[in-house]
Amino acid sequence: MPQFRVSIGPVAAAVAFLASSGSVGAAQKATPTAGQTVYDRDCATCHGPEGKGDGEQATYITPGPQDFTKGILDKRSDDFLTSVITKGGQAQGLSESMPGFPKLSKADLQSLVAYIRQLGKRSSGQKAK
Ligand code: HEC
Repeated sequence: MPQFRVSIGPVAAAVAFLASSGSVGAAQKATPTAGQTVYDRDCATCHGPEGKGDGEQATYITPGPQDFTKGILDKRSDDFLTSVITKGGQAQGLSESMPGFPKLSKADLQSLVAYIRQLGKRSSGQKAK
């Protein structure tokens, strides 16, 4: 059954990739790929394509978004991040310039958290871009 064998490749690659990404908590089970799609659509305009807080809109916001690659997300729990993302910055005492995204599905949300944690990890030793 050659077709079966062909389909194994990408799955094994995804599993290996997830195992090495080292994310914590509930986000561990989520696939960051879907999160990237949401991130590029809803978040990158402010947070920047690499999570460095340098999106086009960031110029007009004070305080601007944090640089996710400086370790800030390691100090945040998944609950904190999902709260900020669904309810907006104010829910956790951050700026109201961070809008809430209440319509994201639970799966998208978990994947998004996994993805931004992954962006955050790129500072430490791994390739920057
Ligand atoms: C209109 C611009 C804007 C958009 C769009 C936006 N953010 Fe933000 N975000 C901000 C700003 C500004 C802050 C900083 C708030 C502060 O530090 O007081 C922030 C803060 C955050 C934080 C908290 C970081 C910390 O301090 O721990 C997270 C997480 C976050 N954003 C995720 C997202 C995600 C995920 C999306 C897309 C679904 C998104 N943001 C979309 C502007 C934006």
